[in-house]
Parts: sequence; C-alpha cells; structure tokens
Amino acid sequence: MELFKGAYEGAVTATSYAEILLAKAIKEHGADCPVKYPNTAYRLPVITSLSGEEVNTIGDLAPILNRIRTTNIREELNLENAKLNGEATLYAAEVIEALRYLNGAQPDQYPYTGFIADPVIRKFGVPLVDGTIPGVAVIVGKGKDSKSTAKLVKGLQAKGIMLFLVNEVIEQCIEENVKIGADFITFPLGNFTQVIHAVNFAFRAGLAFGGIPAGARERAIEYQAKRVLAFVIQLGPNDVVKYAAEFGAMFMGFPTVTDQPVAEEIPDWYQSEPDYEKIGKLGLEMRGIKIKIVDIPVPITIGPAFEGETIRKKDAYVEFGGGRSTSFELVRMCEADEVEDGKIQVIGPEIDEMPEGSVFPLGIMVDVYGRKMQEDFEGVLERRVHYFINYGEGLWHVAQRNMMWIRIGKNAHAAGFKIKDLGEILIAKYKSDYPAIIDRVQVTIITDQSVVEEKIKLAIEKYAARDARLKGLTDESVDTYYSCTLCQSFAPNHVCVVSPERVGLCGAVSWLDAKASNEITPTGPNQPIDKGECTDTVKGSWKNLNEFIYANSNRTVENVNFYTMMEDPMTSCGCFEAIMAILPMCNGIMITTREHSGDTPSGMTFSALAGTCGGGVQTPGFMGIGRRYLTSSKFIPADGGMARIVWMPKELKEYLGQDLIDAAEREGLGADFVNKIADETVGITEEEILPFLEEKQHPALKMDPMM
Ligand code: SF4
Ligand code: NI
Ligand code: NI
Repeated sequence: MELFKGAYEGAVTATSYAEILLAKAIKEHGADCPVKYPNTAYRLPVITSLSGEEVNTIGDLAPILNRIRTTNIREELNLENAKLNGEATLYAAEVIEALRYLNGAQPDQYPYTGFIADPVIRKFGVPLVDGTIPGVAVIVGKGKDSKSTAKLVKGLQAKGIMLFLVNEVIEQCIEENVKIGADFITFPLGNFTQVIHAVNFAFRAGLAFGGIPAGARERAIEYQAKRVLAFVIQLGPNDVVKYAAEFGAMFMGFPTVTDQPVAEEIPDWYQSEPDYEKIGKLGLEMRGIKIKIVDIPVPITIGPAFEGETIRKKDAYVEFGGGRSTSFELVRMCEADEVEDGKIQVIGPEIDEMPEGSVFPLGIMVDVYGRKMQEDFEGVLERRVHYFINYGEGLWHVAQRNMMWIRIGKNAHAAGFKIKDLGEILIAKYKSDYPAIIDRVQVTIITDQSVVEEKIKLAIEKYAARDARLKGLTDESVDTYYSCTLCQSFAPNHVCVVSPERVGLCGAVSWLDAKASNEITPTGPNQPIDKGECTDTVKGSWKNLNEFIYANSNRTVENVNFYTMMEDPMTSCGCFEAIMAILPMCNGIMITTREHSGDTPSGMTFSALAGTCGGGVQTPGFMGIGRRYLTSSKFIPADGGMARIVWMPKELKEYLGQDLIDAAEREGLGADFVNKIADETVGITEEEILPFLEEKQHPALKMDPMM
C-alpha cells in the first residue's frame, strides 16, 4: 500500500537526516553541549512523554535515536508498523528541532512561533476543557490557492478550532490578511519539521494536566487518543516524510484528511476531500468533534479566535468609554412582561452618523427574563459581555461596568457592522450559552449622551447593591461550596472546590459562577456540596467536602485542607493563573504568574515550578491559585495569611493594584505592606531579597517558622 510504503521510507529518511544533523552538531559543539527548548519543564516533550529519558546534552540524543530506529522502523507494510514508523519520525523531528535551539538560539522569527512555551499551553487549559475551543487542527502544506485556503482557515477559526499552521499555508494566510498568531489561537509554527511543536504541545497536555509520568508511553498515547481532539489537514502534494509524520499523528490517535487523491483510503483515519468547503468539516467528523453552530446575523466573523485581538487607536473607526466618554454595561433580571424576546433598540446615533475617529458615549443594557434566573446571576452574565463582544472580528472590549471601553475597527465598519449588531451578538450568545436560565432577552444600546447619563445612575445603584451582597458572601455565610470538575477532561484526578472566598485556580470560576452553572446544567461539572461537619477549623477541612473529593478524584485524594498550603493542599490541574511556593530562608512565600517568564527566588521559573505540581497531585509547599485569591481574607490563614507574601513579580502587583492594598489594610498589615513585598527589581534569589525584607521589617521575618 502506497501510504504504508511512504511511512516506512519517510521514517528512514527522517531518522537518517536527524542522525546526520546530530553528528554534525556533536562535531561542531561537542557531545556535552546542553540541549533544551526554552521555557518548559518537560525537556524534549516527545521523548520525555514516550520514553522518559532525561536528555541534557546532545550526546544523550544519539543512543535514543539509535534505539528508536532499531525498534520502530519496520519494513513489513501494515498499519501497525506504519504507526511505529510514525513514532520514530516524531523522535526524529524532535531531535532535528531541538538542535535548532542550541546555545540559547531563537531560531524562529516573527511571524513563526516555533516551540510553544508551557505558559501558553496552560493559558489555553480552560477554553479547551469548557468547549470554547472544541478541537485542534494542524494544517500542513500549501493550499490550491490563497483565497480558498484563507477561507478554510477562517471557517475553522469561526468554529473556535485551535490551529497550527505549517509550511506555505502560513504565507497564504498572510497574503489574504487572515489574522494569525497566539492571540488568535492560530499558531504559525514554521516549516515542515516545526510541525513537531504541535506534537510536543499535545504531549505536554498529558504531562502537565493529566499527571501522566514521564515515559509512560501507553498512557501517554491513550491520553492523546481520548482527550486531545486533534486532526491533520494535509494540503498539496505529499512526500514520504509527510506520510510518515501523518502516521505519527495516527499513532497518537489523530486522523488526516487531504485535498490530494488517495489510492486506498483508510476510513476514519486517512481520507481525501478535494473540496475546500468540505475538507474542514470532514476532519471534524473524522475526529468526532461536535460544533455548536450559532448563526449570528452580523457581517463580521464571531469566534474565540478574535478574543485576543487588539484594535489600536489608529485602526478604530469609533470608540466608546474608557474614560473618554461616559459608558456602562448592565445586565438586569426582569419580569416576563418587561422583556420582548429578541428586541434590539438603539437610542441615539447609529454608526453612519458617527464620523471616523470619533468618540461617543455608550450604554448597553441587557434585560433578561428566565424562570430559573436569579438576581445573583446578573453579575455572572454581565461579565460575559466582555467575551461576547471581543469574539467579534474587529471589535475590542476591555474592563467592565462603567469603566468599559469599546472600539469598533475600521474593517468592521467597512464590512457593514452597525451599533445594532452589538445587540445581535449579545442576544445570540446569551441564548445559546445560557438556555437554562434565559428564556427571553432584549438589548438596548444607547449612544445619546443625555440618555446614557440618565441610565448610568441606575447601573451604578445596581453595582453597589451587588458589591454589598458579595461582601456578605463569606465561607462562613454559606453551607454549600461548589465542586468544579471541568478540568477532568484533561486532569482526570483533579477536583477544584470553589468557595465564596476562593476562586477556582484558573481564575475563571467563582462561587457565583459555579452556582449559576449548576443551575444551567444540574448534572454538569459544578455540584453543590453541603460542607457538613468541620473536622479542622484552622486548616479548613470538612467531612463532606473530603468525601466528595475522594469519590471524584478516582480515590486518589483523601483530605484537602482549604486554609493551608503546607499540609494536604488543594490539588492543581495545570491551568492555574499563578503558583505559590515556600521560601524557607525568608520564612515566607512567593508567587509567580503565567505572564512572568523570569526567574524567581524559589530558583525556578513559572514553567519549572508548574512542572512540579499539577495533574491532580498534592504538593505541600506549592500550590496553583487564581490571582484574585491573594486578596481573599481566606488566603492561607493557617499559614499566617497575606503577611507571608515576600515576593511577587511587578506585573502581579500592578494587576492587583488597589485591591492588594485594600486587602493589606483589612488584614491589619497597613497600606504600606505592599511596598515590603520584593519583586524582580529587588532580586531573584532568596539571598538577594532577604536584606530588603530586613530593611523593610517585613512581618514574615518575625512569624513562626513555616516548616
Ligand atoms: Fe478547571 Fe478548577 Fe477552573 Fe474548574 S475551577 S475550570 S476545574 S481550574
Ligand atoms: Ni475582537
Ligand atoms: Ni484546569
């Protein structure tokens, strides 16, 4: 069979090529030359995952490559062997790529991404598990023409598919102004061997979220097949190495669809579809990816791919709020007769009456009625405005409430986008995402100054009432906490428990979010748990919570203490926003974030620290957290609370801003406490920051020893 033969010959070619490059590199740099990818805790992830060897130097690679050649490359042509040939090809590609990164080289220049660092993977954990990103496609080769190729890519972006692009398809997208890059969940990896960065991305999901140990080959493969919903689209002429790589994908459970004729298809695994209108859909079907289609009658593309898009001032046709004009957004629960379902009203000028480059006031009022709606859900629903509007290509939304700031880009305007269309997007998304709590929804958009000023009073009253209610929501004031097991699709043993004063470690699920989501899907990932008897008031341990966690962690976690990180702390899946670690010499703790790539006083970067905890295991002294947890009055109280914080990156201080200062005052540490916390400008080792802490008389230094 042509395909199997290709896989065999391709594997021979790829491994030989890897051998030649390796020999050359050893000659040039010496066998002791260190080899590693930047910003990962998993060395060379393909090798770490499949065979677990600790690769430190390029000399370590020679026996590995040798072994995989002897064990895997098999001439007898059948599917099993073709997959083994594919596996060998993955090793070869990993070796070839890793050699490009010697001596700290940064081989890939913009727009190419090359290797994708761990923090990027962690960032996409939640959208991948909650279905915002329903699947992953790797598009390799060169499409028949740029226009139809761009259309194929945009079609997949609109469906929320995470994309990896390899070869000329990247240039074709650029030519057609398709938005690509990490911000668009579309990674232009580079040229052919760079396809391995999609593979080592996938394997790291198993290592980081799945808790799969290094070298557990069978489990790693099973994880990929079961949990990573990826497929390959091969465009343009194939060659033997590409065949071999495609069987490498098949070895991981990922099918390939190609626009080329295939003499003998392998149903569900290797199929041909020359029609570009159908090829994406076939790939999704072959991998069993289900897409919820929401038809929104607006002239721009709507999808999570455009959430990260920024619109600069010079590219904005018109903007609203952000301190330049009065603005607010408000979701209100209403009575049935107050809401006319689907109604959109614009009060004030439409976009045609707004000159290019102008600033207008804006009020967005979303009125919802639902039999199961609760006033508590208003805030949860209101925060969605940000995401829904950002999903629009050419739309940009930041902040919230009466701080919100919107830009409509010139190209959105050129495409015919109207102010009214904001209402179309909101109505369609609310109705599709929240059918259980929203029966009717209407949107009023106000661009008239005097009406905005009148209605904003109402909004401000509502915000104040909501904040007062939130303040009263403490861990003690409720009997019920909520579980979150959303991440179990990636981290099967991990259970988050979300309380009013502890947001989920991803930062995306608060107690109210979990409550609303339970109302929407009673059998879903957020279950109410009656706390039951408290078995340890200091460390924060409850009988019922522990029973729930034990039963839902595949019986791996017996006890979780809510209020300490030093003994039976909450587990982490892997998508934490921040991670905290004990600093013994400073008698305190440090926190670093996904955004901060630099070294920290723990001696490890975020990626390295993250690699030590995750996958649903408890690691005393280390814990993944949501950033907001730092300002909670239940921040590790058993360990001494906020006073233990001795270091965090500047970025995090700025992000938390006034909230951190307020929390310090509330804890009796004084507003000045924040200035006693060291950051990277003070130092990145314990030795460097200790004198600073002493000089500032940091309270942690006088506290009981942590260990
Ligand atoms: Fe995942 Fe926990 Fe966030 Fe739920 S709360 S999405 S389980 S990290
Ligand atoms: Ni956008
Ligand atoms: Ni997670």
